[in-house]
Amino acid sequence: MTGPAGAPVPAPAPAFGQGMREPYARALRVGGGTLTLRPYTPGAGVAPGPGEVRFEVLGWCSEASVLERNLLQGLRGPVLDIGCGPGRLLAAARSLGLIALGIDISAEAVSQACSRGTSALLQSVFSPVPQSGNWRSAVLLDGNIGIGGNVARLLRRCRQLIAPQGTLLVETDPDEGMDIAYQAVLEDDDGNLSEPFAWARAGRAALVSRAETAGWTLAATEQVQGRVFCRLSPLPDRVPWADRTPATGRRRLDRSNA
Ligand SMILES: C[S@@+](CC[C@H](N)C(=O)[O-])C[C@H]1O[C@@H](n2cnc3c(N)ncnc32)[C@H](O)[C@@H]1O
Repeated sequence: MTGPAGAPVPAPAPAFGQGMREPYARALRVGGGTLTLRPYTPGAGVAPGPGEVRFEVLGWCSEASVLERNLLQGLRGPVLDIGCGPGRLLAAARSLGLIALGIDISAEAVSQACSRGTSALLQSVFSPVPQSGNWRSAVLLDGNIGIGGNVARLLRRCRQLIAPQGTLLVETDPDEGMDIAYQAVLEDDDGNLSEPFAWARAGRAALVSRAETAGWTLAATEQVQGRVFCRLSPLPDRVPWADRTPATGRRRLDRSNA
C-alpha cells in the first residue's frame, strides 16, 4: 500500500476485537453474549493464562449502573470517555448535565453511541483529540487501562489531554498485584476470533508505580462492588512525561497529540 507521494503507508495496528471475524462488532450488534480476551503467543497461538478476561456485552450495551452514575456525578465536565464503546457512560453523563465526548476506534461502537444521542468520534486516543489539554475529566473504565498494551504510555497520553486541575478516573484490575502486558485475541461465544492486538491488565499497584513518571499523583482509591477505581490528579508541568526529541535527547512538551 502506498500514500499520495508513493511512500509506503504503515498498516494500522490491530485493535481491540477487530479484524478476522470481527467478534467485537458482532457482539455489539447482538447486544449481548460474552467476549473472552485470550492471551496469544505468535507461533504457539492462544493459550490460557492470567491475561484471560471475560466481558459481558449486555453491561456495555445497557444503561450505566447506579455505581457508575455516582462516579460520574463526582466528576466535572467536560468529560472525555476514552474507549467509550456503545456509549452508556456518555448517555449517563448527559443525563447528569455533564458535557461529554467519547472516542473509540470501533465504528460499530461509535455508531451505537451516536444513535443514543451522545457525541462520539471514531478515533484513537493516540491521535489528535479535540480540546486537548482542556478536559476537566477523563475516564478509563471497563479495563480500558489496557488500551494499547502499555500502561505508562497511555497515562502519559492522558496527561497531555487533561486540564491542569483535571481528574483521570481509572478502573484498575480487582487483583491489586496484576501487572501484565501481552498480545491477545478476542473471541465470542461462537468462536469468532479477532486479530491479535496489544493489551494490558493493571491492578492498583501497577497503576501507582507508573503514575508519577507519567505526570500523575494518586488522589483517591475507591473499592465498590468488587470494582476498584483510582482518581489521579495531574502533577504540575515538570515535563518528565513529555516526549523526548530522539536526535538530541532534549525534552519537548508535546500538546499537539502527534
Ligand atoms: C474493554 S472495551 C470497553 C467498552 C466500553 N468502555 C463500554 O462502555 O462499552 C475497550 C474499548 O476501547 C476501545 N479502544 C481500544 N483501543 C482504543 C484506542 N487506541 N483509542 C480509543 N479507543 C480504543 C475499543 O474499541 C473498545 O470499545
